[in-house]
Amino acid sequence: MPEEKETASRFRFVDLHPQAQDVRADVLAGLSTTPKRIPPKYFYDRRGSELFEQICRLPEYYLTRTEFKILKGNKQEIAAALPRRCWFIEFGSGSSRKVELLIESCDPMAYVPIDISASQLRGSGTRLAERYRDLDVFAVHGDYTQPSSLPDNLLGYPRVAYFPGSSIGNFTHDEAREFLLRTKHLIGHDGRLLVGVDKRKSPDLIEAAYYDADGVTSDFSLNVLKHLNDRTGANFAVDKFAHRAKYSEADGHLAMHLRSLERQVVLVGNETISIAKGELIHTEDSFKYSFDEFEKLAATSGLTCTHRWTDNENLFMVLLLKPESA
Ligand code: TRP
Repeated sequence: MPEEKETASRFRFVDLHPQAQDVRADVLAGLSTTPKRIPPKYFYDRRGSELFEQICRLPEYYLTRTEFKILKGNKQEIAAALPRRCWFIEFGSGSSRKVELLIESCDPMAYVPIDISASQLRGSGTRLAERYRDLDVFAVHGDYTQPSSLPDNLLGYPRVAYFPGSSIGNFTHDEAREFLLRTKHLIGHDGRLLVGVDKRKSPDLIEAAYYDADGVTSDFSLNVLKHLNDRTGANFAVDKFAHRAKYSEADGHLAMHLRSLERQVVLVGNETISIAKGELIHTEDSFKYSFDEFEKLAATSGLTCTHRWTDNENLFMVLLLKPESA
């Protein structure tokens, strides 16, 4: 029997201060380029994280429930394909709901959730440490898109990187390649990457997932402006913008923007930003892949796909990858 330890001794929180840099300068830099941009990490303040949880439950947002279904239906097979006594490292762990399924079937020694939202990270991390009495949880408050320092005691265990939610699709192809390369180095020769990838499909289905009838996605999208007002003292008028999601089938590329409803001037610190009527501020990309496309992309980073799990409707895929030479 594994030794049982108190929750407090099995939960550790490492703060890499992912947003301690100058938020105002970061935002101004993005708003000074053409087209204007706001980095997507600013979506996730407390309210933004709550709204994203609501998005995941929307009927139109097929991604979360489909990935869940795939994990549930294949959890034994997934467990059998992973190394024993491994460490799970999750990028953008959010509510940590999906990983729970895997923790139950795979029985990892430790769980390393990395997330930009400290409140969610503490909440989910302690919940898991309480629930699984022989699991160590090392919560890392950090930005997983940046090369970040992970706990150095990871050495010596097989590492499984977990990247669900098709968040890999939020990278451009070049960024995805870089991320996969970094992940390959992180997991080492005996490690694995388990990744959820949204598939190419009918543009209508995709656009609906990012533009639901109840307007939750729109609230989420616009909330980034409220967050920036709080963080930088900017004066964005949230009602002068609209959420926009547009899919290009040729590129498998869904682009999220905020569209300015009128000509306006926004103050960010001492700087004024002029925005034209109809001008778009880019917030996030979501690339969709065919299996072949993703497999090729991974191969350019030295990762080989060993397993592929999908749903009946072929909406989403969960892939297991390993370093090429292993
Ligand atoms: N990572 C999520 C995705 O690509 C983010 C997301 C969902 C999102 N809905 C959105 C981002 C709407 C901006 C606007 O699926």
